[in-house]
Amino acid sequence: MFKQTEVLIIGSGLAGLIAAITAADNGRNVILINKTDTLTSGSTYWAQGGIIFRGNEDDKNKLMEDILVAGDGACWQPAVEQLVDLGPDLVKDILIDKFNVKFDQSQGHLDLTEEGAHSVRRIIHSKDHTGKAISEAVAPYAQKHKNITILNNHTAIDLLTISHHSTNPLDLYDKPACFGAYIMNNSTSEVFPIFANNTILATGGLGQIYINTTNPSESTGDGYAMAYRAGARLLNMHYIQFHPTTVYGANERFLISESVRGEGGILVNKYKQRFMSKYHSSMELAPRDIVARSIYNEMLETGSPNVYLDVRHLDKDWIVNRFPSINKYLHSFDIDMTHEKIPVVPAAHYSCGGVGVSLRGRTSLQRLYAVGEVACTGVHGANRLASTSLLEALTWGWVAGNTVSEITKEDEYFPKIFDWEDGTEEMDNALIAQDWLNIKNTMWNYVGLVRTKARMHRAQTIFRHLSSEVEDFYRKAKMSKEIIQLRNGVTTAYAVTNFAIEDRTNRGSHFIK
Ligand code: SIN
Repeated sequence: MFKQTEVLIIGSGLAGLIAAITAADNGRNVILINKTDTLTSGSTYWAQGGIIFRGNEDDKNKLMEDILVAGDGACWQPAVEQLVDLGPDLVKDILIDKFNVKFDQSQGHLDLTEEGAHSVRRIIHSKDHTGKAISEAVAPYAQKHKNITILNNHTAIDLLTISHHSTNPLDLYDKPACFGAYIMNNSTSEVFPIFANNTILATGGLGQIYINTTNPSESTGDGYAMAYRAGARLLNMHYIQFHPTTVYGANERFLISESVRGEGGILVNKYKQRFMSKYHSSMELAPRDIVARSIYNEMLETGSPNVYLDVRHLDKDWIVNRFPSINKYLHSFDIDMTHEKIPVVPAAHYSCGGVGVSLRGRTSLQRLYAVGEVACTGVHGANRLASTSLLEALTWGWVAGNTVSEITKEDEYFPKIFDWEDGTEEMDNALIAQDWLNIKNTMWNYVGLVRTKARMHRAQTIFRHLSSEVEDFYRKAKMSKEIIQLRNGVTTAYAVTNFAIEDRTNRGSHFIK
């Protein structure tokens, strides 16, 4: 069996959905691949803080300046210009007018909140579950669209490229291009190719390669690994952003939105001392990389496994109303944030690098695009400004959706491909679990918030060995989502490590002691 479509989109967060809807509204046939059984999963759904819109006495230049300063000299200015030029208008046209997302209002206007490194209040939000509100407003439109076929519970294995999959040896001399992907049905394990004029990676991030992360379980680095194997260029993979405040003591690292600090929350150490003035004049609202490293330092200096976020000085009813999801989550741990300090630690949050793309979302491989967290547009530089991720997803999703709607002659070549060959060995869950622990702990301890040359080289040796073991295991194994994700996880961890070793400059989120 095989399928064919004009546009293949792998991933179902905001960037993938907007690209799909844009191409479908332009009359293109779209197949959208979703690893889980619902469109309301993934990082978009989990986003708490909000999305940048426009503040009072705000302008494009101010927003651009804030992004550039947070990015610590590594942003690509044309991409930042595109974001500030198009982004806020798309928020209005698409999210507010077309999908009627219910953003909070205050005195008849959109309520504006603040987060670290913003010079004005310009972030709109839906309480503390903005991503949920956006996903629930946008996804039904895609589900009902006659031009969009959604394949839930399907996992992409590899991109189809002319150089790797064509049976015609002379194709090798043509420009490298992608013409779809091998996809697996998670329920039946059947693997089949989908041929596409254009393919868009929208697979989200890689947080699961760290033991402590704010990301959902789907964020196993799939898109980076597929693009790497296909020969597309990766950029800035070592710029991993650590969110300063996630709940300490829980099994998973539940995020405490930066908007809690934006609304006045303060950080204190185990001696109840407010410490951020030692590190930055903007205190708790300094750029995220600085706050996260300051917390790390404070934990070391005080010999404590966490610091505290304190909101007890704010109005109690207001807190509960403004942050209902956080309040509810903390209650499940017997923490009442209106009366107690919240124990917090940093955790891996966002990949600022990724598959390098142009202003149109094109990768270095013809007919392959990337949008959302998996892409490196250059907007985020070495450290992403808070609440730019949904804005970037919306902007590049829209731009790429429009670009793939123009199908050229070159997009129409589909070579004959080799038959898919599956292994026969049954999956060994113990091996998979141990390999993941190895990846997650190695990344956390050796390629984390604070890195050293020795630690990174140790990680490189571990991943060199582990990737060849996993590749061998993958070749022989019966296909499953677990083995596909493990293979992608180790490839992505290895890539992050190699990028980190190559860059000797401390910048933004890349810090070598
Ligand atoms: C948060 O709510 O703190 C996360 C927002 C973001 O990562 O941009």
